[in-house]
Amino acid sequence: MHTVIVGQGAIGLLCYHRLSVANSTNGHDSVSLWPSKSTKYSSYSFQELNAKAEKFPLNIAGKGELSNARLIIICVKSYQVKSALQSIHHLIADKAVIILTHNGLGTFEEVNYLLKPKQCLLTLLLTQGARKIADYHIEHTGMGNSDLGRIIGQLPPTKQHQLVDYLQEGLSQVYWHENIQQAQWRKLTINCVINPLTALKDIPNGDINQHVYQEKVRLLISEVVQVAAKEEVTLSKNSLLKLINTVARNTENNTSSMRADIMAKRRTEIDYINGYVHRLGEKHQVATPNNTQLWLDIKALEDGFNI
Ligand code: PAF
Repeated sequence: MHTVIVGQGAIGLLCYHRLSVANSTNGHDSVSLWPSKSTKYSSYSFQELNAKAEKFPLNIAGKGELSNARLIIICVKSYQVKSALQSIHHLIADKAVIILTHNGLGTFEEVNYLLKPKQCLLTLLLTQGARKIADYHIEHTGMGNSDLGRIIGQLPPTKQHQLVDYLQEGLSQVYWHENIQQAQWRKLTINCVINPLTALKDIPNGDINQHVYQEKVRLLISEVVQVAAKEEVTLSKNSLLKLINTVARNTENNTSSMRADIMAKRRTEIDYINGYVHRLGEKHQVATPNNTQLWLDIKALEDGFNI
């Protein structure tokens, strides 16, 4: 199957690299990249963990590749998902499988109307790390597994197995979930806690486990759990607390994506993290003062960036 990766950021190039290397080894159809703006680059640099950067050829997708693609992987920031899909949806095959690397919470509602009846939308929750060093130059910063599941549309079991095997060859440790909602909400909760706190306090992820932040961490989790319950998703506060503790420990020296965005004076994904919890809180009349405050604090920082 031909695959098109949409987005040339760190996750886009990581997926492009892993799948194109696996495809050329296994003799599968090619992979191409649909960047957000036209590019003169014909190669990209990829740096494995603790290794030197190497150059690889870049196969840029044209409209033909996009129309032929059976699989489209959208690797853009949450706030770009809608415009990315708006710009290509008329070119995509009627039966294409579309994968979002964003968890889909808050973005699905925005793109649902663009999908054709036989298209299927999935989410791929990656825990692998990648960092953009420069345009078309990325570094793989950490191994991890990937959880895959259906947001909307039908995917017959044979196609589902084929897809998991195909992604597995490139990305490794890809797990299919019949019910991906739990995993989507777990990822959202991790991001609601680690991202804004590390960004506002200007600390690495591991510092979240310090005693001084524990009360705030508990309050944030508790609000997400209440909002999730209104969306008919049952989450356990204690398991989430342990999970966040583990993620912070495993990535203790890392800079969260939101802290990196604030340091670089870029727009953050706060509207789809604590901002999403705030919106759902309003919808269900559940008070979310801690998530709302973090959303407002990060928005206030962004306002100073003139973006
Ligand atoms: O957004 C991020 O940086 C990551 O999702 C996480 C898990 C917070 C760790 O860095």
